[in-house]
Amino acid sequence: MDERFVGKCALVAGGAQGIGRGVVQRLADEGAEVAIADLDIERARQAAEELEAAGCRAVAVQVDLADIHSIENMVGEAVHRLRQIDFFVNTAGIVHNTPFLEVTEEEWDRVVDINQRGALFCMKAVSRHMLERVPEEVKARGRSATSYGKIVNFSSISGRRGRPLQVHYASAKAAVISLTQSVALALAPYNINVNAVSPGPVRTRMWDINVAEKGRILGRNAEQEAEQFIDQIPLKRAGTAEDMAAAVAFLCSADSDFITGQTLNVDGGFEMN
Ligand SMILES: NC(=O)c1ccc[n+]([C@@H]2O[C@H](COP(=O)([O-])OP(=O)(O)OC[C@H]3O[C@@H](n4cnc5c(N)ncnc54)[C@H](O)[C@@H]3O)[C@@H](O)[C@H]2O)c1
Repeated sequence: MDERFVGKCALVAGGAQGIGRGVVQRLADEGAEVAIADLDIERARQAAEELEAAGCRAVAVQVDLADIHSIENMVGEAVHRLRQIDFFVNTAGIVHNTPFLEVTEEEWDRVVDINQRGALFCMKAVSRHMLERVPEEVKARGRSATSYGKIVNFSSISGRRGRPLQVHYASAKAAVISLTQSVALALAPYNINVNAVSPGPVRTRMWDINVAEKGRILGRNAEQEAEQFIDQIPLKRAGTAEDMAAAVAFLCSADSDFITGQTLNVDGGFEMN
């Protein structure tokens, strides 16, 4: 594999498993040093050990995206242990399926706190660090020929249109698209690119939770439900963590230097806007 990211440091929130684990693997395979941040610190440590055993540099950091202080600590610790953050990828998230009329305040807060509020405060803490590396003359000029960082968020096909069983998740993921646009504009003068990936179904723990909850609510076989969904995807398959990681690697690479504020559908053609 190419070594495009040698000398670069990446912080991946939610990197202990699922899509995030695939992202960590891909960035490390291309030479990046990685900080794997997750609520599940044991899994994050295990992932870091696997990468170190394969000759990569990896550290594990605990974070709870529902807690702003924890987010700030994550960034501080990643900078301390890796020296800098060139790429920040946020794959951490939770899903819940609940009929609209049964959504509680508590459930709304939890889903929005992690998926939406967490996304904003991660970007805020990470960009503060990225901006420290921008020289004063560049700040004064308000434009830069050098890239000072790449940020990649994770939205979802659920953020592209309404979902009767995911009113909180779908609106939080739609908000991630909007946050990506706003922060991209705010950071454009410093040449910090902010984009997002919008996956279709990917077989991870989240997928298992999603189909099990939907099956229970609708009184249907969860796996059949999932297969029917996949049948509506033009490319006729679910995505993989590797598909998502390839998109992230592109959005972290110099090949995407002129792309910012975009949310890239990586969903086999399911959504087209
Ligand atoms: N899997 C899919 O089908 C799918 C589809 C569309 C979008 N997505 C999005 O892709 C991203 C990755 O999903 P995934 O399928 O890998 O999920 P996953 O559940 O397999 O992994 C999510 C990771 O986030 C971590 N996490 C959860 N809450 C956290 C918190 N409060 N603080 C820090 N870390 C926390 C978990 O410990 C886990 O390691 C999510 O943002 C998800 O919404 C997934």
